[in-house]
Amino acid sequence: MEFVHKPIMLTECLSALKIDPAGIYVDGTVGGAGHSKEIAKRLDYKKGGRLLCLDRDPDAVKTASERLKDFPQASVHHSNFSEIVCLLDSLNIDKIDGMLLDLGVSSFQLDCAERGFSFRNDAPLDMRMSKTGKSAKDVVNEYSEAELSKMIFTYSEERFARKIAAAIVRERQKKPIETTLELAEIIKGAMPAAAKREKNPCKRTFQAIRIEVNGELEHLKNALDDIFSKLNSGARLAIITFHSLEDRIVKQKYKEWCQGCTCPKDFPICVCGNTPKGKMTPNKAIEPNAEEQEQNPRSKCARLRVFEKL
Ligand SMILES: C[S@@+](CC[C@H](N)C(=O)[O-])C[C@H]1O[C@@H](n2cnc3c(N)ncnc32)[C@H](O)[C@@H]1O
Ligand SMILES: [Zn+2]
Repeated sequence: MEFVHKPIMLTECLSALKIDPAGIYVDGTVGGAGHSKEIAKRLDYKKGGRLLCLDRDPDAVKTASERLKDFPQASVHHSNFSEIVCLLDSLNIDKIDGMLLDLGVSSFQLDCAERGFSFRNDAPLDMRMSKTGKSAKDVVNEYSEAELSKMIFTYSEERFARKIAAAIVRERQKKPIETTLELAEIIKGAMPAAAKREKNPCKRTFQAIRIEVNGELEHLKNALDDIFSKLNSGARLAIITFHSLEDRIVKQKYKEWCQGCTCPKDFPICVCGNTPKGKMTPNKAIEPNAEEQEQNPRSKCARLRVFEKL
C-alpha cells in the first residue's frame, strides 16, 4: 500500500526548528518521513548535519528508511521517543539542536485496514502502533465496565461513555468482540438515534481505545523532561498535537519550563531560586492556515507549540 501522509504545517515546522545545516536534529515520529525528508534536505552531511528519525511502528521504520535512503545525514531507528536518552547515549550523542514530534496516528496507519485503527474498514481489533503488547481486542474484552466507561470518557469526552461501556460488556458475554465493525455496531447501538446520525459517531470511542492501547499520554508525559535534558542551549522543540489532552500536557510542561520563580505572590523575596529555562516562540499555539485546513481536513485540529531552550 502506498504510504501517503501530507506533512502537517510543514513550513511552520521547518521555520520553528531554525535548522542549522551542521546541527543534530531528531524527528521523534518519522511516520512516512514527510517532515524528515524536508529537514534532511536542509542539513549538510559534510559539516556534521544529522537527523535521527524515530518511530515505534516497524512498518513506518521500513517506509521511512526507503524514503530517506538517499540522505546519508538521516538515520532511521525503531524506537519510542520516550526512550530518547537511551538512544542518544547508544549513539554517543550528548545534546541535540532541535526536535520535532508530530503526535498520534499517521494516515497510513488509519488507512491500512488490517492494523485495525479505523471504524470504516472491517479488520481484527488491533490498533497497536508498535505491533506488540495489549491490543484493542484485549482492552475491549478484558477491562471491567467501570474501566471502559472511565477510559472512554477521559480520553474522548464521549457523552455516552457509560452506555457504550455497558453495551460492550453485554455483547461480549455472548461472544468475544473481535473486529472493528463489530465494535462500531455495538457503539452505535448504544447511542440515542440523534447521536447516531452525527458524522462518525464511533470516532471518539475509537480514539479513546487507541490512546489507551498505545499509552500515548504516558509516553508523552514521560518523554518531555528527558527531551529537555538533551536540548542544547538555543535548541527548539516543536510539537504538533491533535487533541486537547495532548495539547494540555505540552502547554503545561512548556509553561513550567518558562516559569521563573514559583514562590507565593505575597513572599517579599524569592526563596525558590527557580529561573526560566526558555521561552515559547510564539507564546501561543500555531494553527494550520485556512488553505491547509481546506486541503487537508485532518489538519483542522492540529496545534503546533514551539519551545526554545535558553
Ligand atoms: C502523525 S504520524 C507522523 C507523520 C510524519 N510527520 C510524516 O510527515 O510523515 C505519527 C507517527 O508517530 C509514531 N508514533 C506515535 N507515538 C510514538 C512514540 N511514542 N514513539 C515513536 N513513534 C511514535 C506513529 O507510529 C506514527 O507513525
Ligand atoms: Zn521564587
